[in-house]
Amino acid sequence: MNKKIIVTGGCGYIGSHTVIELIKNNFQVVIFDDLSNSSQDTIGRIESITGVRPVFEQVDLKDVNHTSQVILKHKNAFGVIHFAAHKAVGESVQKPLDYYQNNLYSLLNTLKAQHENGIQNFIFSSSATVYGNPKSLPITENNQTQRPFSPYGNTKKMAEEILEDFSKAYTDFSAISLRYFNPIGAHESGEIGELPNGIPNNLMPYITQTAAGIREKLMVFGNDYDTTDGTPIRDYIHVVDLAKAHVKALFRLIENKQEQALETFNLGTGNGFSVMEVIESFERVSGIKLNYEIVGRRPGDVPQLFAATDLAHHKLGWKAELGLDEMIDSAWRWEQKYRATTTAK
Ligand code: UFG
Repeated sequence: MNKKIIVTGGCGYIGSHTVIELIKNNFQVVIFDDLSNSSQDTIGRIESITGVRPVFEQVDLKDVNHTSQVILKHKNAFGVIHFAAHKAVGESVQKPLDYYQNNLYSLLNTLKAQHENGIQNFIFSSSATVYGNPKSLPITENNQTQRPFSPYGNTKKMAEEILEDFSKAYTDFSAISLRYFNPIGAHESGEIGELPNGIPNNLMPYITQTAAGIREKLMVFGNDYDTTDGTPIRDYIHVVDLAKAHVKALFRLIENKQEQALETFNLGTGNGFSVMEVIESFERVSGIKLNYEIVGRRPGDVPQLFAATDLAHHKLGWKAELGLDEMIDSAWRWEQKYRATTTAK
């Protein structure tokens, strides 16, 4: 192999895990990152895990001219995997313009520049949030998308629509949109993992930071949903499984197996777990009693989301392999290792 792949947001959480899997599959990786929510240290960590240092370009994809210049340098790339985006749901409600500006300009500028340079393949980091509150479960890719509850979610939905139009207009262009359910966990080395800026929004980093003594207690947002134990159910997926799915998607593009110019796949395990089940798993795996309190619902949360995974299985030849305890164990090991080597809060 040895094809060159541009990975935008490659220093971030899912991006960095995907870079590792790409390198393991002998791809030549070029990371584009503005480091706004990530650190360049990640590159050294990727090198220590894989033995290969990916090429790094610090680029703000909102800057159309700079994006064009840097993509021109790498015009021999086979394709782009586009992770770069802001992702905090709550913050996006407070600062909608920032989210539309960042997430959509970066997409538009990347598409424009790659198109000008003849780079015809694209993998997009989408989200199950495009399904809104689904009417039926498990969610198949044919479930109607709905307007997401947050500007962040809406940038994902709009991005998919842009890709649909773009792939219709330019027949040489091929894209795959991957709709992630709830990625958690970390690389087995404990070298890379999720590092939210400030107070975490998501359940898993909030749990590990609480157990590490950085947060006082976890607030469980509601136990009066119509679910087994009243807490919301999600489809948690190990970030390494998720990363491997990107490599499978890339092979589908390389082998020209696409049935339509834009294809969409769910990435989940197909199993739903409640917030209380996640807490129980954490306590079992870590041996730590977690300090938590049941409080009111968080606006915008839906009761249940879990994926139908058949399409990704049949067309990508991919299936998640790691279970909830493995996800949680790796997240906890990452948190402990990270805290042991840094004073960052
Ligand atoms: N939760 C808590 N306490 C917390 C954080 C979360 O009880 O401190 C609960 C939430 O109420 C929810 C569950 O844990 O029931 C999962 O919440 P997350 O914030 O971890 O994940 P979400 O399902 O809300 O959101 C995730 C991604 C989004 C994406 C969405 C798609 O973070 O980027 O899935 O469904 F849009």
